[in-house]
Amino acid sequence: KTIYLKDYQQPDYWIDETHLTFELFEDHALVHSRLALRLNADKPQKTLPPLVLDGQQLQLLSVALDDQSLAEGDYQVDTHSLSLQPTGAQFELALTTRIEPQNNTALEGLYKSGGMFCTQCEAEGFRKITYYLDRPDVMSRFTTTVIADKGDYPVLLSNGNPIAAGEHEAGRHWATWEDPFPKPAYLFALVAGDLVLIQDSFTTVSGREIDLRIYVEPENREQCGHAMDSLKRSMRWDEQVYGREYDLDIFMIVAVNDFNMGAMENKGLNIFNSSCVLAHPDTATDLAFQRVEAVVAHEYFHNWSGNRVTCRDWFQLSLKEGFTVFRDAEFSADMNSRTVKRIEDVTFLRANQFAEDAGPMAHPVRPDSFIEISNFYTLTVYEKGAEVVRMLHTLCGAEGFRKGTDLYFERHDGQAVTCDDFVKALEDANGLDFSQFKRWYSQAGTPRLEVHGHWDAATGQFSLLCKQSCPPTPGQSEKLPFVIPLRMALLDSEGQEMPLKLVSDSAARGNETVLAVTEAEQVFTFEGLTEEPLPSLLRGFSAPVKLSYPYSRDDRVFLAKHDPDGFNRWEACQALAVDVMQGLVGIHQAGRPLLADQRLIEVYRSLLADETLDPAMVAEMLRLPSEAYLVELAEVADVEAIHLVRETLRRELALALRSEMLMRWRQLNIAEPYSAEAAAMARRSLKNTLLGYLMIEAGDDMLAACVRQFVEANNMTDRQAALVALVNSPFEEAKQAALAQFAERWQGYPLVMDQWFSVQATCGLPGALERVEALMQHPAFNLRNPNKVRALIGAFANQNLVGFHRADGAGYRFLAERIIELNALNPQIASRLTTPLTRWRKFDSARQGLMRAELERIMALEGLSPDVYEVVSKSLA
Ligand code: ARG
Ligand code: ZN
Repeated sequence: KTIYLKDYQQPDYWIDETHLTFELFEDHALVHSRLALRLNADKPQKTLPPLVLDGQQLQLLSVALDDQSLAEGDYQVDTHSLSLQPTGAQFELALTTRIEPQNNTALEGLYKSGGMFCTQCEAEGFRKITYYLDRPDVMSRFTTTVIADKGDYPVLLSNGNPIAAGEHEAGRHWATWEDPFPKPAYLFALVAGDLVLIQDSFTTVSGREIDLRIYVEPENREQCGHAMDSLKRSMRWDEQVYGREYDLDIFMIVAVNDFNMGAMENKGLNIFNSSCVLAHPDTATDLAFQRVEAVVAHEYFHNWSGNRVTCRDWFQLSLKEGFTVFRDAEFSADMNSRTVKRIEDVTFLRANQFAEDAGPMAHPVRPDSFIEISNFYTLTVYEKGAEVVRMLHTLCGAEGFRKGTDLYFERHDGQAVTCDDFVKALEDANGLDFSQFKRWYSQAGTPRLEVHGHWDAATGQFSLLCKQSCPPTPGQSEKLPFVIPLRMALLDSEGQEMPLKLVSDSAARGNETVLAVTEAEQVFTFEGLTEEPLPSLLRGFSAPVKLSYPYSRDDRVFLAKHDPDGFNRWEACQALAVDVMQGLVGIHQAGRPLLADQRLIEVYRSLLADETLDPAMVAEMLRLPSEAYLVELAEVADVEAIHLVRETLRRELALALRSEMLMRWRQLNIAEPYSAEAAAMARRSLKNTLLGYLMIEAGDDMLAACVRQFVEANNMTDRQAALVALVNSPFEEAKQAALAQFAERWQGYPLVMDQWFSVQATCGLPGALERVEALMQHPAFNLRNPNKVRALIGAFANQNLVGFHRADGAGYRFLAERIIELNALNPQIASRLTTPLTRWRKFDSARQGLMRAELERIMALEGLSPDVYEVVSKSLA
């Protein structure tokens, strides 16, 4: 059943107070709720409307209205709701439901992960706990009591502050928590388990002391320091940059092993996938450290952007997610290298969100309709949503943006609001009109921005002719022009920025400016130029568009070497590599030999020699565009050609630059004590990028060096990089030895074993599918653990182009079988796994047929979940 934004109506009733008591047992749980309900007086209604509560997979044991037990017949229950007729405008409802958390494999609602009870209620999981008005605009004060066996579950947690605790007979105990802030049910959380606590404290700007706690299973005690440090930095940063202070006296994080997503911002009690909390240099890579920092910050920032001000309905999801991703990205940029962070995010967006926006599931940042909301926790809502907020930040300026967010938080504190309310606050605080800008929220698809330059030597004027368009997406054939902030500069023949003065402006604009492209076609003319400039466009990726400008390869070489803007230097390097690789795909298809463009080699050579550049930047620039990105850019992707071209180019680069790479690698490959500092991470990044190149056609010395790094590394980043290099090498013996040794050493560490699975699943050498199938039988693999599914099956289907897209369709068949199995166990994970098959239009007709056949096979399945049904049916439409 499709739900539409246009059908939104306020609820008929509010719930002022919610009192919950959970009795947890091994084979069931009882949930007693007492709700103080009140008619919504703002909604004109003649008679008292029936009360319809959401509820799924519940066994209803009792119902009482104002302390009067109701008999069957006084209320109606179906698979999705409980309805009854209130007799007054204000009343109390008491319910008892029975659920079976131990059998909850969907990991939504109350479930068991290992030995602990935990919850995941966003978006609509609370209705699997008890009957409720499970919608974000119903905000209520919660008091929660948890009762469980004391020996097995010594720690009992819920939202807010602990207010009472005690013992019951038969070894059971209880704790009561009270959350003073009204919240929607999706922010409810409960944890019961045998957990250890890592504790610290934070003094807020106004001098309040906050008790900070991270709860983990005992064996993970030593892996929490980085998350705790990240939390304290996030709290300080939100005070300094947004003026947001924490509001409860206690803030808790709990790590669980079985979790559908990254983490969840439940009020005062964040629940995390252990992969986003635990980090120790022995077990986690530098990338994992950065991810922990970012996710801890993200969930913490939700306390304001999401919890204090929440969403009116799920169509507004990007109100909290887009804004919070923007906030965590800026936090990470402030804590680490700003340019590198931006490069990582843009790389991810272009390879993945652009593909989503060009496929059958394309939807606006604020969708108009959905069947299953879980399917809309997407790259578009999150990542493109963050780009939309970033553009608003650009258009308001940092100060104006802060004025706008201050107004937003002040105006809407304690409310459930819309994306329009957010934009309105920015408009009102700045006296701006964003009505056209708001098309970014309602129109799907990635806009094209085609720019041409025109130089008039006689007048010293240079014009940028801008043309924008946006391809049709499902349900949207025509698009109106967007507001595209185009950050740019003009460079002279030395690479210096030239002063910018637009003919249409009275004042000059300095050396860099943001042009607002608002029309389908628009011309910007600069004057007073002494020579023909080369434009540096879309600096910092100032808008999520596909930019084209008729640069020659020599222009790109020039920009890659001279653009004063670090991001655009990287971009020029990428664009040059893309251009070269696309050229080579054509050459391969024409049956001619593949030769690397000398200019790319020379750019790389100069990068390797440039010791003034941040090594992390050099590493980013030496990284060829991914196969996934080349697929996204292609009209019809030639799987074999893309893989062959990328591998050949890597080899050409490795051979042509062997001595330069070796020299730089030797400088970096010195034994040093482990450090988590940014500079040390940057050195590891470049060193290991070079190791990857140097292991191509490596001799015995290099192989020995790689094995040595694998064995002797004092951190997981180096160890894993060596493992990746070995697994992708032809040295069968060394490879098998390393894999065996790694599994032996780390078998007790599930997150490290995830890496072990992924390294093998993404290896592009022949036989990938057979290896993945064999790994499914490995004792460390478990289809019920989402991290394992992502590490093995997800990594194979998304990051192993030639393996997954095997010409005989066996990769597709394998994935469809896993989707069918998971459909019964965990529909959200099944649905997410379907993504690679939805991209079938990108491939040749034989592969299209094979992919569609698997989609149709899934579609015909009896008992198909709404999650999988929505994605598959839209892909076949
Ligand atoms: N609000 C969470 C976050 O982005 C995501 C949780 C969504 N979970 C889900 N199963 N849909 O931080
Ligand atoms: Zn979020």
